[in-house]
Amino acid sequence: MKKMMKTKVLTIIGTRPEAIKLAPVVLDLKRRQDLFDFPVCVTAQHREMLDQVLALFGITPDYDLDIMSPGQTLAQVTARAMEGLEEVVSQEKPDVILVQGDTTTAFCGALTGYYHQIKVGHVEAGLRTGNKYAPFPEEINRCLVGRIADLHFAPTEQARQTLLNEGVADPSVFVTGNTVIDALLWVRERVRAAPPELPKGLFEAVTGQQIILVTGHRRESFGDGFDAICHAIREIADSFVNVAFVYPVHLNPNVREPVNRILGGHPRIYLIEPLAYGPFVWLMDHATIVLTDSGGVQEEAPSLGKPVLVMRETTERPEGITAGNALLVGVQTERIVDGLRLLLCDSERRAMMVAVNNPYGDGLAAQRIVNVLLKME
Ligand code: UD1
Ligand code: UDP
Repeated sequence: MKKMMKTKVLTIIGTRPEAIKLAPVVLDLKRRQDLFDFPVCVTAQHREMLDQVLALFGITPDYDLDIMSPGQTLAQVTARAMEGLEEVVSQEKPDVILVQGDTTTAFCGALTGYYHQIKVGHVEAGLRTGNKYAPFPEEINRCLVGRIADLHFAPTEQARQTLLNEGVADPSVFVTGNTVIDALLWVRERVRAAPPELPKGLFEAVTGQQIILVTGHRRESFGDGFDAICHAIREIADSFVNVAFVYPVHLNPNVREPVNRILGGHPRIYLIEPLAYGPFVWLMDHATIVLTDSGGVQEEAPSLGKPVLVMRETTERPEGITAGNALLVGVQTERIVDGLRLLLCDSERRAMMVAVNNPYGDGLAAQRIVNVLLKME
């Protein structure tokens, strides 16, 4: 009898959001290990922030390129990732390489696949702003990955249409939902059942306060943009005594400098280290408003019934804006202050924003992706 060959899927992960969004896929491949080999390679473009997620989902990478260096440039990440991935792919010779999103790791993973003439699957395909410098360099990273990919896992119908409009062949595009919702629902269940440990004193400090949860890290906002964001947060913290800002500060030094300089020492602004995913989801679940420039957080907050103010001029996730879950407030102090005041003072407005469904997924995206991989020629 002919022995059935397993399909070998090499998953490549670089940063925190890629780990969160690919963990459900890796775990689903593992559930089908009778049919798949599923080596995992982390470039470790992120280090601590990545390791937190891998530990939570119990994923031990088969390869760890450990490329992160403090304050690394885009060229350094690209060069180190390309060199390391070359070796891994030569050794593993997978049937398909999976990359996620729009990071430098995702781009390098796709390019390495192309150089080796190996199929590439792109998770979270078809997101575009149409502005090559916003988000920077993610917009071009995902266009390039999309150009290379053989399988496009689009989170929404709108993302699918974008790909088709760019000339991508219809049978290679699959609308799956976003895997971040799979990860979020898994973690939400756990943190609702057993609240996770928060940094010392934080729980007591924010109890009885309206929590505004903040994250920010976009490269196009470095410099004046981050100064403006921080001034807005400070202005609201000065005027609302029953509001607590909780801000897990991204480890990028370009973020930490202005945040510590402008917001450090304020009694109602809690600057903390990046949180493991569990405590972060718990805080989102207890927040009144989420203020962010993050892609993943924009997608998650509506599933927890939280209104989102997006600190960007444009977003490749317009579905939340159209549905009414999110408002774009840019990176000018006045607009952010106005947005925060509007939501803090108007509970009906907040309620309207969360009354609509999450457009980003239903928690079954990973299964759909793995089913496509099963049928792959
Ligand atoms: C990267 C991605 C971005 C993604 C974001 C998620 C690129 C070009 N950028 O941006 O698309 O949205 O991750 O957070 O791919 N650092 C640490 N420890 C960590 C992580 C980062 O110290 O665990 C510090 C280091 O000084 C590092 C710097 O942050 O050099 C920047 O990391 P990098 O991955 O280059 O860029 P991000 O701004 O994190
Ligand atoms: N997140 C986390 N801890 C934090 C901040 C964010 O676990 O302190 C999670 C968040 O829930 C989301 C993801 O990290 O799933 C978003 O990562 P990030 O904002 O760094 O990247 P982006 O989504 O913008 O690419």
